[in-house]
Amino acid sequence: MTRTVVQRSLAELPDAVQAIVAFAPGPSLDVAEPQPIFERMLEEHPVLRWDNGVAFFKMADIVEAGRNPAIVSEMTQGFEGMGSREALIPLNVDGDRHRRYRKILDPLLAPRKMAVLEPGIRQLASKLIDGFINDGQVELHDAFAVPLPSQTFLQLFGLPIEDAEFLNGIKNQILKNAGATLEEHNALAVEAGDELKAYLEVKIAEREKEGAPRDDLLGACMSYVTDDGSRLTRDEIMNIAHLFVIAGLDTVTASLTCIIGWFARHPEERRQVMADPSLLPAAIEELMRFENPVLMGGPRFATADTEVNGVPVKAGDMVALCWTTADLDGDVFSDPLTVDLQRPENRHIAFAAGRHRCLGSHLARLELRVAIDELHRRLADYEITPGDEPHYNHAGVRAAEHLPLTFTRA
Ligand code: HEM
Repeated sequence: MTRTVVQRSLAELPDAVQAIVAFAPGPSLDVAEPQPIFERMLEEHPVLRWDNGVAFFKMADIVEAGRNPAIVSEMTQGFEGMGSREALIPLNVDGDRHRRYRKILDPLLAPRKMAVLEPGIRQLASKLIDGFINDGQVELHDAFAVPLPSQTFLQLFGLPIEDAEFLNGIKNQILKNAGATLEEHNALAVEAGDELKAYLEVKIAEREKEGAPRDDLLGACMSYVTDDGSRLTRDEIMNIAHLFVIAGLDTVTASLTCIIGWFARHPEERRQVMADPSLLPAAIEELMRFENPVLMGGPRFATADTEVNGVPVKAGDMVALCWTTADLDGDVFSDPLTVDLQRPENRHIAFAAGRHRCLGSHLARLELRVAIDELHRRLADYEITPGDEPHYNHAGVRAAEHLPLTFTRA
């Protein structure tokens, strides 16, 4: 089957498309409802070839590309991903090495392990809500959506909760810095990444002096022994910690603000879910689909000439996969621009597809469910504060970084 591939130079592409194919951050997607923009991309260029490679927007192609062994996440072209000078583990490694790391890391974040965190997350959510429940108004991003996932993650991973502000500052400098070009952006990210590495060096050195490993994720990585008796090296542990700090501090905050922002603008649907909390898990899945905050994963690269569902990909091509448009693909989801909180079959890929699917999805889903459930238990009603507007930032991961709510208490 021959596929239609739209061909454009980078300069010809709208900013929003450049943000995806060339990882060029820009404000063009910083709107409350970007879904129609994504829908247009699917219509105008489901497959796009540009100067440096090829970008896929449809679900079937993205899933297929994720399975193709010749399309890898390894940084083969000198990219510095997420402020790191080395390939991040497991995001930027492939093949047997990737399988080895996933075998070590998957069990640490398995559903059974995460389930025991529920009471603690609920208690934390309740404490944070106590901080604003008498005010009738709250800026939810700072008061709730940042501290809840940050404190949950830092405690689980084994870094001091008091360092949350410092680490969030570094994470923001890595993902959302003000670099005007991709080169400037990467340079600032690496500077912040070096600061993160220096911090992690100290924390790991402190632990090395202690006799026994601590009972947390960092302790588990440091004490892990494989079947053949080998251990993770210090560099590997530093590297894993670098990625985990960024992933653990950013994405749940982002998703939480997108979902609550949507509920605040859709009172009827919100009241339905508040009246019957058993609808919440499916509602979260539907809003993860519709509001999918991770526009594109890290870049992929073709190691050999190959093809994806009939689309030729050349050795050396950069391959961009747009998870967000795939979740609005009408070939997979009926009426994709309509939010159906009880959508019967919802195989969205907000947590990615293929070998690099999200390692933290069980933790993320737990945090989202418990956080929203607690908010809905304590607030009777909420809306975007009249006269104020949420501010969305789409650099790296989409988030409402200013989310002003006015509410009545339950
Ligand atoms: C709602 C929250 C989250 C979303 C939407 C999300 C989304 C994603 C996506 C789309 C990927 C694939 C990236 C790519 O292939 O380029 C990914 C990978 C990953 N995520 Fe998440 N994530 C979330 C939460 C978390 C949390 C809380 C953690 C850790 C505590 C985490 C850890 C990771 C790791 C380590 C990978 C790399 C997996 C690999 O390469 O094998 N994520 N995530």
